[in-house]
Amino acid sequence: MGTLAGQTAIVTGSSSGIGQGIAERLAQEGANVVIDYVGGPDGAQETLKKVEAAGAKGVIVEADVSQLDAVRKLVNATWQAFGGADILVNNAGVEKEAPFWEVTEQEYDFVLGVNLKGPFFLTQAFVQRLIEAKKPGRVINISSVHEDMAFPNFATYCASKGGVRMLMRDLAVELGPLGITVNNVAPGAISTPINTALLENKPKLNALLKNIPLGRLGTVDDVAGLVAYLASDAAAYVNGSTFVIDGGLMRNYHEQ
Ligand code: BGC
Repeated sequence: MGTLAGQTAIVTGSSSGIGQGIAERLAQEGANVVIDYVGGPDGAQETLKKVEAAGAKGVIVEADVSQLDAVRKLVNATWQAFGGADILVNNAGVEKEAPFWEVTEQEYDFVLGVNLKGPFFLTQAFVQRLIEAKKPGRVINISSVHEDMAFPNFATYCASKGGVRMLMRDLAVELGPLGITVNNVAPGAISTPINTALLENKPKLNALLKNIPLGRLGTVDDVAGLVAYLASDAAAYVNGSTFVIDGGLMRNYHEQ
């Protein structure tokens, strides 16, 4: 039996990248998984297959976490399918490259909406249900090394991830007494679709690799293992922390 047998996890943005890896890994630990996605349903179907191949149950829900009605739909669908949830992984994330002086209001709303407003109100909806049911829970936010480290030309992304860092710290204190822990996982450069432009730009990629002491990009499995730990009983006393997983990048960062 896996460490999460009988539990249910909501994983936002789990039709690709890190989210898909987390969904699969939590399923391997025995958890039912709610697969949230926006846009292409094919990726969500692929995740569902991986969850089922691991011997767990999954449901797919299309919900844009930046919209409150969609957030409510996601939580309702979870409770309908599985009668509750124990773990929320706020993974959905987007980024837009632009010099600070050119960022539009639309770009700001898009990035802050998905990356910060989404975790804020989805966690709220999740916690409201846990309080009603008098149940403990785990909230794990997939943040970024850029919750702490500068990333020129990505001011919206940095603002959102910095917000997620303080939201986590605040909620760890406010929700701890309810038996709900809140932690962040802060990946560095992971090989996923969010990095397509980087992966296709060899000089930029090589420059980045030089800054990563382990000399490679991370994989979704690297990140998923840490999330599985934070969701498990072994992490019962872990609350209010960010766990960086970046091959050492954050300790060795240079522009150019
Ligand atoms: C971003 C990537 C970036 C990496 C390291 C991640 O949070 O999504 O675009 O390459 O941080 O800087």
